[in-house]
Amino acid sequence: MSSVRVLNSGQIAEAVDVLRSGGLLGLPTETVYGLAAIATNENAVRRIYEVKGRPLDHPVIVHIGSVSELDEWGIDISDQARTLAEKFWPGPLTLIVKRKQIAGDWLTGGQDTIALRMPSHPVALGILRELKTGVAAPSANRFGSVSPTSALHVVSDLMDYLDSSRDAVLDGGNCEVGVESTIVNCTLSHPKVLRPGAISQSDIDEALKSTSTNEEIAEIKAPGLLASHYAPNARVLLAESEADVNELLERVSEKNFVGFIAPEKLRTPDGCIRLAMPQNNSDYAQILYEALREADNQGLQNVIAVLPQGDDIAVAIRDRLTKAAN
Ligand code: TXA
Ligand code: MG
Repeated sequence: MSSVRVLNSGQIAEAVDVLRSGGLLGLPTETVYGLAAIATNENAVRRIYEVKGRPLDHPVIVHIGSVSELDEWGIDISDQARTLAEKFWPGPLTLIVKRKQIAGDWLTGGQDTIALRMPSHPVALGILRELKTGVAAPSANRFGSVSPTSALHVVSDLMDYLDSSRDAVLDGGNCEVGVESTIVNCTLSHPKVLRPGAISQSDIDEALKSTSTNEEIAEIKAPGLLASHYAPNARVLLAESEADVNELLERVSEKNFVGFIAPEKLRTPDGCIRLAMPQNNSDYAQILYEALREADNQGLQNVIAVLPQGDDIAVAIRDRLTKAAN
């Protein structure tokens, strides 16, 4: 049987050793768990792609332990990008900036930009500050499937692919945010959200005291923006309202095996299995991936998800659920 070493949050030194020796580490962050390697170690980063089954042209995010490290990886960094880093780091925000040479093709998929983020999870920050070097970390799931929000998710997804003699997973508890970071393209004259997350476009506009004009959107590849992603095995059906739920239920043949994800105030339709009943949008984000995984654990064929409303993290939840449904 395969196994993988699980470290606890007191074992930062051991986690640093794993990374320094060229191993991979399941790394807790406030958004989702990452699969980490030292960013300048090309071989280790290439192993991340193998373990995830991820195509090589999908660039990864480099995680850093201080705002000043922006300048180690990026060049021509705009004042706006610096303002966003000062305001939102450490936190769930990834900035795309022009890359320096140190950001090799194995990190950027050959693009001339690099994605940088300073996470706020104390364990992640502790490791990064000890290492004093950037760490590449895509979400620690197999390519295309649901991101992990607990150490158990990482172990069950990747145990068969990790090397028990070199790699480890650090258990830093359940992720607080629950969906991946907001990605902002800072190479445009006004920074624009490429992937929605806990920090919204209006948070960004407010921090910059300006809003986007309808300038042309640069051709930038962000494969997280693929139409299908974050998908469980179960079929995900989307509803805007209770009326939609009833209509969807009429179309599903096996009514007794339908999972149901919806805000707390909506009652569970007869025969459905309630997978989550979030009280608000932050709650919804935090439990979303666990609920989608639970659908698969229970072998459910269909999940009806009632989309949250609002222009906060609801935008990110709607984005992920729409991709899970494709
Ligand atoms: O919250 C997060 O961002 C998590 C945690 C672990 O930090 N990481 C994460 O990584 O979600 P990943 O690799 O699953 O998603 C990163 C996304 C991908 O869609 C990738 O295409 C995009 O970021 N990306 C990375 N570098 C980019 C670049 N230079 N230009 C455009 N998109 C980029
Ligand atoms: Mg991912």
